[in-house]
Amino acid sequence: MNQSQHGQWSSRSAFILATTGAAVGLGNIWKFPYMVGSYGGSAFMVVYLICIVLIGLPIMIAEILIGRQARQNSVSALNMLACQTSSKQTSAWRYLGWWGSATLILVLSFYNVIAGWSLGYAYYAISGHMKALDAEGFKQLWQHFSGSPVLLIFWHSLFMLFNFWIVKRGVKRGLEQATHYMMPALLVILVALVVYASQIGDFQSAWNFLFNFHPKALNASVTISAMGHAFFTLAIGAGCLLTYGCYLGSTISIIEAVVTVAALDVLVALLSGMAIFPIIFHYHLPISSGPGLMFLVLPVALTQMPAGQWVAGLFFILMALAALTSTISLAEPPVVLLMEHYKLSRTKAITSVALTSWIIGLGSALSFNRWHNYKLMHWTFFDASTDLATNIMLPIGGLGFCLFAGWIMPKKQSMDALQPCPTWLYRTWLSLIRYVAPVGILIILIASPF
Ligand code: PFF
Repeated sequence: MNQSQHGQWSSRSAFILATTGAAVGLGNIWKFPYMVGSYGGSAFMVVYLICIVLIGLPIMIAEILIGRQARQNSVSALNMLACQTSSKQTSAWRYLGWWGSATLILVLSFYNVIAGWSLGYAYYAISGHMKALDAEGFKQLWQHFSGSPVLLIFWHSLFMLFNFWIVKRGVKRGLEQATHYMMPALLVILVALVVYASQIGDFQSAWNFLFNFHPKALNASVTISAMGHAFFTLAIGAGCLLTYGCYLGSTISIIEAVVTVAALDVLVALLSGMAIFPIIFHYHLPISSGPGLMFLVLPVALTQMPAGQWVAGLFFILMALAALTSTISLAEPPVVLLMEHYKLSRTKAITSVALTSWIIGLGSALSFNRWHNYKLMHWTFFDASTDLATNIMLPIGGLGFCLFAGWIMPKKQSMDALQPCPTWLYRTWLSLIRYVAPVGILIILIASPF
């Protein structure tokens, strides 16, 4: 098996932590609650969970095994493995790698803007700006914040600088150290928030909203959004996990690692749902407030508790930390691609990636103020970036990985790469990646309202 020139994870738990860091992020804390809120609660939940198991898990495994087998950036990895099976020099499969990196840069552009919001709100909470504000005051704070291009661009830029700094330090010093402390801190704060919400909030209504399934609420837009969200939250479909797989030692079981990461990812989403919805129901806050849900309604409740200023501050720091481990994972694959393909230094590569997504992100930041009325159909620039990347580009990339791992890689190669793994489990994965996942993605994409 090859070695990656960028180093290796020092242990199995370092890999699991970093991959969980990629998976767990704003998708779980910011996006999951507002999507569930806007798309009918449990109907969204059911499709999301089915997609995680039948489509998400097999693709996670596929991406990591491709990465570990090739130990190169996604373009060269796909090219090399495809060429090994035919006797050609280059293969069109390499375009799947480029597609993935373009997707990651687009995701990073809007993701970083929202990550900046959490940083800005953490600052507001800790510096006392939220003291003595009532619901109306928070609405005004949100309007002031989101309505100001200068503020949004300032926090967007600051967050991009943090990301730049960590990715510049490379795998061991940057990625591992960052996630080692952030992930456990995140879980602790989240559990504390759930305990708090269960004491003061309406837990029963939240539970019913999330888990009492009403089939009538299911429709094509719920289905495509839930599938897109499964891709987004597991960080699959764009080669991010392929790149993390490059740094994975050859004796570690991929399947075990993947199941652990996916379980943690779903757990954090459910925990953040159980932290937020009891409060929303208790205070009768508007459940379908869209992307502003967290920022518009949650501080109302958080700041009413004892030491509320600090609780709110902690909550937004938690969001920023979760976002940082994900923005790192969004930037790393295109950085490695530029380093290996164009022989750029790490500094030059991260500068190009950060600058490109920072510039595209300006469009998202301006969507909430200056460009609010510039729409393509009903989409602002921000809506177009999120929907295009999440609901279309990630699933198409995911479809590519299914076809590659299921039909292009020889069975013997994928079986060897998945060891240690019992034969029945390998066969189950193979059927999912060959038939169930690609057919599911195609049906949902074709039926989608876009
Ligand atoms: N999974 C991250 C989240 O839920 O916030 C977002 C993400 C990271 C998407 C990495 C895609 C990706 F490649």
